[in-house]
Amino acid sequence: MEAGNDILVRMVGIHKWFGRVYALRGVDFEVRRGETVGLIGDNGAGKSTLIKILSGYHQADQGEIYFEGQKVKIRSPRDARNLGIETVYQEQALAPNLSIARNIFMGREPVKKFGLMDRKAMDEESMKALANLGLRLRSPELPVVTLSGGERQGVAIARALHFKAKLVILDEPTVALSVKEVEEVLEFVRQLQREKVSVVFITHNLYHAFDIAERFVVMARGLKMADVKKEETSPQGLSELVLKSAFVAV
Ligand SMILES: Nc1ncnc2c1ncn2[C@@H]1O[C@H](COP(=O)(O)OP(=O)(O)OP(=O)(O)O)[C@@H](O)[C@H]1O
Ligand SMILES: [Mg+2]
Repeated sequence: MEAGNDILVRMVGIHKWFGRVYALRGVDFEVRRGETVGLIGDNGAGKSTLIKILSGYHQADQGEIYFEGQKVKIRSPRDARNLGIETVYQEQALAPNLSIARNIFMGREPVKKFGLMDRKAMDEESMKALANLGLRLRSPELPVVTLSGGERQGVAIARALHFKAKLVILDEPTVALSVKEVEEVLEFVRQLQREKVSVVFITHNLYHAFDIAERFVVMARGLKMADVKKEETSPQGLSELVLKSAFVAV
């Protein structure tokens, strides 16, 4: 195999402006197949902007993206999903008033004759997808709004697994969750890891990051400041890197 073939996605020289705000100043970022990368850094560092470019919510003003070695243009969330990139956001991943099953299939519903949605198939497959993740919910018909924060993350991750995502991006999935729910979410991520799905995990909690990721990219003020392997660091080491980066950045 040619060297570098294990790289799933590579972003090169990414620049992004929001009006006068220079949010990304030439960032290189890559994720290997089956790898979990912890993306960390202070508020406003550019973490969400970087991954929103990957998930098609924003477009870079400059820079390139390669997916499985091919140069790609990601112009919409649909483009990202078609490549196998799924994003789990705290806020906007799910439609709260729709059922669990509808949320799992959102935009990709199975149909019967005459183009009618196949609700039975959706219900059955949803329950299977959730059970695979160790998540037992009473009924696939329940609206998502009735679920706990941890369970909602589970539904989003079950969707990624069901549609065989190659990369799952989690932007602060553990914010506002109880200790028990955090443990559930980390366990869902471990299930992605067992299935060799690549993961980008953004968090301010460096213990969660250290627990789940094997490599850490530290950002500050639109720049990548450090890229370290788990063996080379510790939660304390990460904390020092984040603090130091915030000070030395331009
Ligand atoms: N839609 C937007 N419009 C204008 N400015 C934006 C927008 N999104 C982000 N920014 C700005 O870009 C910079 C990077 O923001 P970003 O959300 O990527 O940071 P972050 O590292 O995710 O921070 P946090 O840890 O607080 O989530 C910040 O200065 C932010 O205010
Ligand atoms: Mg953010």
